[in-house]
Amino acid sequence: MKVRKAVIPAAGLGTRMLPASKSVPKEMLPMVDKPVLQYIVEEAVAAGIEDILIITNRGKGAMDDYFDYAPELERRLEASGKMAELAAVRRPAELANLYFIRQKETKGLGHAIGQARRFVGDEPFAILLGDDIMRAERPVIGQLIEAAEAYDASVIGVQQVPDEMVSKYGVIKAQPLGNKVFTVTDMQEKPALTEKFSNYAVLGRYVLKPEIFDLLDHQAPGVGGEIQLTDSIKTLCGKNKVLAVDFEGRRYDTGNLRGFLEATIDFALDHPETGEWLKGFLRDKAKEV
Ligand code: G1P
Repeated sequence: MKVRKAVIPAAGLGTRMLPASKSVPKEMLPMVDKPVLQYIVEEAVAAGIEDILIITNRGKGAMDDYFDYAPELERRLEASGKMAELAAVRRPAELANLYFIRQKETKGLGHAIGQARRFVGDEPFAILLGDDIMRAERPVIGQLIEAAEAYDASVIGVQQVPDEMVSKYGVIKAQPLGNKVFTVTDMQEKPALTEKFSNYAVLGRYVLKPEIFDLLDHQAPGVGGEIQLTDSIKTLCGKNKVLAVDFEGRRYDTGNLRGFLEATIDFALDHPETGEWLKGFLRDKAKEV
C-alpha cells in the first residue's frame, strides 16, 4: 500500500481568530514569512505526497491564488534583480499538484472529508487539518504513513494531553502494539473528563483507507450537531485495522490566538533572518515583565 494523496480541510469559518479572519482565511494568516497553509502543504510534500486536495469554502479564494503563479509580480521582481524573492513567490505554485473543492455547507469535519471522495478514489490517503502546524524533525504525516504502510492499516496521530484539554479533542481507547504504536479499539469526540477513554488525543493528522467514505455518507450528526470524522473512524475500528501513532514533534493549534502566537515565536526563533534578533528581544522583554 502506498499513500500518494492528501486532503487538507480548510473550510472552517475561523470564528476563533476574528476579526483577523473576517476577510483573510485563517489558513492564510502569516506565520513569520509564510501563510499557515504553506507549512501544511510542505509537510505533506516532505512526506512524499504529490497530489493534494484543499477543501475550501466561499470567501477563501485567496488560498488558490496563493498556490498559482503571479506573472506581473514575478516580472517586476525579475526586472529589479530580486531573485530570492522571485524564488519564494514561485515556490508555492510548484510545491505539488494542488486541487480545490468547496464544501458548500458547513456541516463539520466529517462532511468536509466526504467531499474528497472522487479525488481520493480507491486509495489510502492522508489528512492534515488546516489549523494544525507541526514542528518536527521527521514530517509527522510521514511518521503516520510509515506505520500505515508497514501494518497495512489506517493510522491516527495522537499525543497525550493534560486532563483539562481532553474535552477539546477526539480521544482513543487503545492497546499497545509496538514502539509508540497502538491498536485503536474505540473513539470518542470531545468527551467529558469523567468519561474519557484515555489522555491520548487526536491531533490533526490521519491516514485513512477509502472505506471511510461509505461510513461518512451514512454518518449521523454528533457533537455540536456536526458530522464528525471521529464517529466514522470509531465505526471503522470495528471493521478494519485502525492504529494510532504517538508521533514525535510539537503540534500547534493555529486556529486560536494563543496557539498561533506560540507557533509564531517558535518558528521565528528557528528562522535564519529573525532567530538571533528575536532571542535578544525576548531576553530584554523578560526583564520588563
Ligand atoms: C477536530 C477533530 C478532533 C481533533 C481536533 C484536533 O476538532 O474533530 O477529533 O482532536 O480537530 O486535531 P476541532 O478542533 O475542529 O473542533
